Amino acid sequence: MELIAPGWSDYEVLDAGDGLRLERLGDILITRQCAQAIWPRHLPERDWRPHAVHFRNDTGPGAWSYPRGPVPRAWPIRRERAAFEMRLTEFGHIGLFSEQETQWPWIEERLAARAGAKVLNLFGYTGGSTLAAALGGGQVTHVDAVKGVVTWARINAELSGLGAAPIRWIVEDAPRFVSRELRRGNRYDALILDPPTFGRGPDGSVWQLETSLVPMLAELEQLLSDAPLFVLLSAHTPGVTAAVLRNLLVPLVARRGGRLESGDMAQRCASGPYLVPQGVYCRWLP
Ligand SMILES: C[S@@+](CC[C@H](N)C(=O)[O-])C[C@H]1O[C@@H](n2cnc3c(N)ncnc32)[C@H](O)[C@@H]1O
Repeated sequence: MELIAPGWSDYEVLDAGDGLRLERLGDILITRQCAQAIWPRHLPERDWRPHAVHFRNDTGPGAWSYPRGPVPRAWPIRRERAAFEMRLTEFGHIGLFSEQETQWPWIEERLAARAGAKVLNLFGYTGGSTLAAALGGGQVTHVDAVKGVVTWARINAELSGLGAAPIRWIVEDAPRFVSRELRRGNRYDALILDPPTFGRGPDGSVWQLETSLVPMLAELEQLLSDAPLFVLLSAHTPGVTAAVLRNLLVPLVARRGGRLESGDMAQRCASGPYLVPQGVYCRWLP
């Protein structure tokens, strides 16, 4: 099943094409590169009037330029009960992976079925899925390798009125954390993971999806409680299709039964007919 994110009042993709996408974050318009947008833009050039433009280069992370003057260093946007601080990072990230919008209500609804369910969110970034899980009533463990990103996620939780919610914030290498939880005998009712193609643990250890994910999944499965609610795996790695994610979760079905649902995630452009591809997901339900 394809999941299409429509955007919301504070966030939308206005247009995409010619290798670029135009997004609105509250009142600020930004342009970022988008390698998959090989089609021509829908809106005329005069409608592409971004406040900030990010370009990557071969030698470094890239840089922002501000054709309409300075923009705030940080500003909040809201989506229903959740809030996110927007920042323009040198790598061209903004603190939000908006395609996950389609997963958040799903997470919240499933957790609302069992008060206090234990949720593990690996590679949690600025906490979109953590906020959804907490809003659903879950007790959440949020893990990311980058301290600054975990601090950002905590700011988002505060902005969302979840400062006192039962969320554990952990700065650690995801595979290392999973192995330690297994040894400690901790178990979770729901697992969420959105692993990057490449990353590093705080100790410099290398994460490479193609080689690191399968060994971690084998351990992760053992972290599931006796009455699990779901596993949600998503990815944004070229060549890793929904069928690949499905195949990765087949051993889980073989051992625990249940069913898989999987597909593409895409973002709808507000201006016209285009969908911007934004990764794939596979969900396991008992
Ligand atoms: C694709 S983002 C996840 C997006 C997030 N799920 C969301 O919806 O906002 C990947 C995250 O993985 C983190 N990361 C990279 N390598 C890691 C590792 N070895 N252990 C833990 N986190 C890691 C990065 O810091 C980054 O925040």
